[in-house]
Amino acid sequence: MTETVSFPQDRTCPYHPPAAYEPLRRARPLTRVSLYDGRTVWVVTGHAAARALLVDQRLSTDSTNASFPATNERVAVVRGKRRAALLGYDDPEHNTQRRLLIPSFSVRRIAAMRPMIQQTVDGLLDAMEQDGNRAELVSAFALPVPSMVICDLLGVPYADHEFFEEQSRKLLRGPAVEDAEKARTLLEDYLGALVERKRDNPGEGLLDELIAQSAAEGRFDRRELADLALILLIAGHETTANMISLGTFTLLQHPEQFAELKADPSLMPTAVEELLRFLSIADGMLRVATEDIDVEGTVVAKGDGVVFSTSVINRDGAAYPEPDALDWHRPARHHVAFGFGIHQCLGQNLARAEMEIALTTLFERLPGLRLAAPAGEIPFKPGDTIQGMLELPVEW
Ligand code: HEM
Repeated sequence: MTETVSFPQDRTCPYHPPAAYEPLRRARPLTRVSLYDGRTVWVVTGHAAARALLVDQRLSTDSTNASFPATNERVAVVRGKRRAALLGYDDPEHNTQRRLLIPSFSVRRIAAMRPMIQQTVDGLLDAMEQDGNRAELVSAFALPVPSMVICDLLGVPYADHEFFEEQSRKLLRGPAVEDAEKARTLLEDYLGALVERKRDNPGEGLLDELIAQSAAEGRFDRRELADLALILLIAGHETTANMISLGTFTLLQHPEQFAELKADPSLMPTAVEELLRFLSIADGMLRVATEDIDVEGTVVAKGDGVVFSTSVINRDGAAYPEPDALDWHRPARHHVAFGFGIHQCLGQNLARAEMEIALTTLFERLPGLRLAAPAGEIPFKPGDTIQGMLELPVEW
């Protein structure tokens, strides 16, 4: 019997699962953890079990279910009041929303966005180079790349980026519950007003297409459209920004793998996949069981909360030999860093394209890139949010 570990916890090193999760790594495929409110829930730790459970429709993402687990009070209050579009719904409602968006995130549509992504990346690197040979990479590069790209895709004015980036940060990280609640209201009001403006003056983004389609088919109202825009805007910039900053930090801390990648940029697509597995930045997907489920002989009972620790699942030695090694030559593709099943990340093709272009161009343009502060002094994000660097001082 293992002791009950509390979940989530801060990482000790920004690119490894928290040292405190060691007992979870020994307890596969699932065990119990305690949450901030003292509640005990299941944590899925095994790779095969995770992939089986993530496609099991007896696990629900309805955050208004009284038994739905939360990783902190902010999540409990904000998600308990209203569900996020897509992620907060089970099928068939979820499928109705998702079907409408799938064409905009297809491999073909994202491939067509590559020149725009490249241009965005080039422009930001030009500005960094003009400013000298030092920069804070999160604010100068890692955040603006996905933020500009998602604005372009949705048709949200990038001129408003300081507002929505700050509110997204508060929604995800608080610190107080009231900060998160207020941020959600401000973002909803902002996007609701944008939907109204676009109704009168249509533009060219995905949001404009959704408005037109909804009007023609009598589908979504203003609030539902604003909810869809909200999840796309937040998921579209907060996640990829963390992968670019933490990915860069990780490479700078792994000189051998970094040198190999710089010498052969054709490794980049597999390197991005391995970085997704290795870093598992969205660590703690939440579900509630709506029926009893037998998991390899253990019963997850109806009403039980279930958490998927992607950082532990993606380091399962049964799926990935030497799981703690960063290896560009392993087939990492079956990781669950983007989730799996009906909620598997809608933006994954976009995120991959952004990471590939951003990292390839960054290392090509600034081959001497290095940390401008001791690695141990650079701050990173707390465990109860999406993982990544808070700052990344670099020079070249
Ligand atoms: C590297 C960057 C990203 C990572 C690691 C990531 C991770 C994830 C994960 C783990 C989920 C599943 C959550 C769950 O099942 O509980 C998810 C869902 C989602 N992601 Fe991403 N994401 C990334 C980038 C993006 C981007 C760029 C967008 C888009 C515009 C996006 C939009 C979404 C949406 C809309 C969902 C909900 C899908 C649904 O419920 O059907 N993500 N993401």
